[in-house]
Amino acid sequence: MLIVEDVHKAFATAQGRLPVLRGVDLQLPRGSSLALMGESGSGKSTLLHLIAGLERADSGRILIDGEPLQGRGEAELARWRREGIGLVFQQYNLIGSLSVAANLAFQARLAERHDPAWVSYLAERLGLTPLLQRYPEQLSGGQQQRVAIGRALASRPSLVLADEPTGSLDETSSETVLELLLELVGEAGSSLLLVTHSERLAARLAHHLYLHLGRVQPRES
Ligand SMILES: Nc1ncnc2c1ncn2[C@@H]1O[C@H](COP(=O)(O)OP(=O)(O)OP(=O)(O)O)[C@@H](O)[C@H]1O
Ligand SMILES: [Mg+2]
Repeated sequence: MLIVEDVHKAFATAQGRLPVLRGVDLQLPRGSSLALMGESGSGKSTLLHLIAGLERADSGRILIDGEPLQGRGEAELARWRREGIGLVFQQYNLIGSLSVAANLAFQARLAERHDPAWVSYLAERLGLTPLLQRYPEQLSGGQQQRVAIGRALASRPSLVLADEPTGSLDETSSETVLELLLELVGEAGSSLLLVTHSERLAARLAHHLYLHLGRVQPRES
């Protein structure tokens, strides 16, 4: 269970302090899914970074199965990222010196949860089987995105944090890949927090939130 309670985050900029999150609350029960929407710049990626422990909140609490992230040191946060979550970010962050096969297995190996049969299955479902010996620079944007999804799910993390890429993908291929993400997250038994601009995709998730002016609101329908 993920609980975010009254989280605030501001950034220091050349123009002064920029408040981005101004008291964000949300809950995501284990195994459930939540679509996070909101205009560009509303703080969606910032919130995902806080939950991933990549940045720290200024105030408020983020609880994972009742345990606050705030109290954890850097090593514990690194372990949380390695073992607890799967990340699919807007930049795919694949490791350029590793093949697709090694990228897929990378986090699961670190977490000591490498399951070759599950990774082969993921590769097959994601259409990556013919590409396993290639390197990230030899892949299209959509193919890289599919590797990032496979890597995030390979360790069957309790929580998947996915930030819909807005870059190179056209809407149709982006939605096709994200539909696959939804199916595979279900099979992995993970919870999903998905940032998306697609109403159609969001409608397939159990819960929806809209980030506006630094706070979450139930999605306007
Ligand atoms: N490290 C940083 N330093 C200063 N400002 C930042 C930093 N990171 C984000 N911001 C600002 O915080 C605001 C929220 O950014 P964020 O990336 O969370 O938005 P977003 O909702 O993910 O937008 P998009 O849909 O375009 O991805 C933006 O105004 C951004 O410029
Ligand atoms: Mg973003």
